Amino acid sequence: MSRVRSLFFCLDCGAESVRWEGRCPSCGAWNRLAEAPADAPERVGTRPSRAAVRPQPLGGSDAPPLRLKTGLTLVDRMLGGGFVPGSVSLVGGAPGIGKSTLLLQLAAGMHEAGFKVLYASGEESRDQVRLRADRIGGAARDLPFIASDRIEEVIEVAEQERPELLCVDSIQTVAAVGAGAPGGVSQVRESAARIQELAKRSGAATVLVGHVTKGGALAGPRTLEHMVDVVLHFEGRRAAEFRFLRTSKNRFGSVDEIAAFRMTDAGLDPVEDPSGLFLGDRPDDIGGSAVAVSIHGSQPMLTEIQALTAVARFGSPQRMATGFSARRLAILLAVLERRGGVPLDNLDVFLNVVGGGRLTDTGADLAVVGALASSYLDRPLGGSTVLVGEVGLGGELRGVSAAEARVRAAGRAGLDDVVLPALHQASLGTLPGVRFMSHVDELIAWLRST
Ligand code: TYD
Ligand code: MG
Repeated sequence: MSRVRSLFFCLDCGAESVRWEGRCPSCGAWNRLAEAPADAPERVGTRPSRAAVRPQPLGGSDAPPLRLKTGLTLVDRMLGGGFVPGSVSLVGGAPGIGKSTLLLQLAAGMHEAGFKVLYASGEESRDQVRLRADRIGGAARDLPFIASDRIEEVIEVAEQERPELLCVDSIQTVAAVGAGAPGGVSQVRESAARIQELAKRSGAATVLVGHVTKGGALAGPRTLEHMVDVVLHFEGRRAAEFRFLRTSKNRFGSVDEIAAFRMTDAGLDPVEDPSGLFLGDRPDDIGGSAVAVSIHGSQPMLTEIQALTAVARFGSPQRMATGFSARRLAILLAVLERRGGVPLDNLDVFLNVVGGGRLTDTGADLAVVGALASSYLDRPLGGSTVLVGEVGLGGELRGVSAAEARVRAAGRAGLDDVVLPALHQASLGTLPGVRFMSHVDELIAWLRST
């Protein structure tokens, strides 16, 4: 039995819908739903017969290596030890951020280390990629390369060459014949499905470059992120030299890891200790600014949090948070009012995590509370103070993970006044530059006295 199904996709956000609608049910855009070609009917009788399928020991002697090391320690750590054979990873990022550079560098490093590599580009010609290889140097110029914008061709070459690492730059430009406009939702879905099938069949660790939309999400169908095993985002401001690689999905390791690079004239240079890079220029004499240390995977990062409280002019006061959960902000405001005696209920409250990151680590609670109280009281926290701790509903400070790593990261950035929950006193009391509090009211009392 086969069933032919057609699906509609939003050309803007990629949301799927089983019927056509004038307005995208997900992003609300008008007239953006397009029909995708119907799925190919399921084939009957192509499964191997029962006798052909035999269980094998998990770790038999012909088992493939579990990880392919990239040679870039930061990337290996982020992936959980290297690429997994047969897996598909997606590297997303804005144009010009350095995705092709990162991929070429990884591929060249692995080629040099003796892995069989194939680099396919539908985006750029051989000459354009060679110019980049010249800048990177090393083994980049010797890399086996094809320029092709047809997935069938890439798959054919990959089947002949049997690479251990296959790079495809980009999934939006390497199109399948008859699968719709390049970069369109159905083309991306089709190309990704074929690549995934190839990776599983051949065992090649495969890395795809993916474009992002204006909003920063990966372009193409939502299902793209579900289809691949690892999703990495490459970010940073184009003009600034620092680039950050983050994981948002990793079937084989932890998520929320972060690795930093500096874009130089000769490619990307890993930054061994990026913990202070988010901090940037910070006014230390204005109320409303506090520094948190949050943990991203295994990496502590110092982040500035800014708060502004102002008299509400109309109706109910506004609460706006950028880079921080609005719900968590509402809880912390209630705690501040009930447990810390700081009445913010009639004020507009704006909270901003500086640098564009998103803070999900509850260890940043105390810094949020500190920024809010500091703005309300108009007392600056001081340029060398860092606030670490989770805040409970009773206003009590709760312990955090990796407390010592947070203190040491602050120290390396020259911030030598770290406030920690009292729980850590027994183990960290002897570290230089730490002090302990057990309740938010101690922080408020200290702010009022400065
Ligand atoms: P690129 O990797 O082409 O970005 P993407 O694939 O994400 O679009 O590189 C983007 C920028 O990096 C480009 O403006 C040139 C710059 N660059 C350097 O500064 N140094 C280098 O060694 C290389 C290769 C590129
Ligand atoms: Mg590119």
